[in-house]
Amino acid sequence: MEGLFITIEGMDGSGKTTQINKLRDYFEHKGQHVVLTREPGGTVISEAIREIILDIKYQEMDSVTEALLYAASRAQHVRQHIVPNLKDGNIVICDRYVDSSIVYQGFARKIGKEKVKMINDFATDKLVPDITFFLDLEHTKGMDRKKNQQELDRLEAEKEQFHQMVREGYHQLLKENPHRLIGVDASQSIEEVHQAILNGLKNKNIIVDK
Ligand code: TYD
Repeated sequence: MEGLFITIEGMDGSGKTTQINKLRDYFEHKGQHVVLTREPGGTVISEAIREIILDIKYQEMDSVTEALLYAASRAQHVRQHIVPNLKDGNIVICDRYVDSSIVYQGFARKIGKEKVKMINDFATDKLVPDITFFLDLEHTKGMDRKKNQQELDRLEAEKEQFHQMVREGYHQLLKENPHRLIGVDASQSIEEVHQAILNGLKNKNIIVDK
């Protein structure tokens, strides 16, 4: 495929949206075409599935159902939106992707990494990002940043221990995928985090200057 597929992972409140926008500006400034998208979401069907997954009223949702809904949302997103854009040669920057499922459902919900990987291989036809950044932040700091938000969604409302497992899961993934995944300290300033992302892209020869 011609395009470039970048995914941004991170703790809730780690500043993903700000960094994604800055990265888009960077590429657009260089005259490249960028498509921003997010998971769960990115297509009409995937956004509808998102509503079900995150709705705080579905407290009884089984972890397996949850994992399959994320994967179903992703299957539509990959086929309808991500792959066509990559084929057109665009840069696709996606807010969360399969790594989120491995960590949240596989690790924190304890379904197991292998099972989650299996359903996601099926959902995505094994489409793997060219590069992934993980914005690392203590959960309590992330929540401090989000405290003006009106309501927490079903996942954000999970207990502190769940979010600690999420963070631990990401740290494991960083060790297992050193070539694709780059960890960035998200407690730094917005500009420092942006520079760390650009440095990561440079080190992988994805961009040649800053
Ligand atoms: P979102 O509002 O996108 O959260 P954030 O702004 O923190 O990224 O909600 C997505 C939530 O769903 C988030 O808590 C992480 C979780 N999630 C999973 O558990 N599995 C997944 O595969 C994905 C994509 C997200």
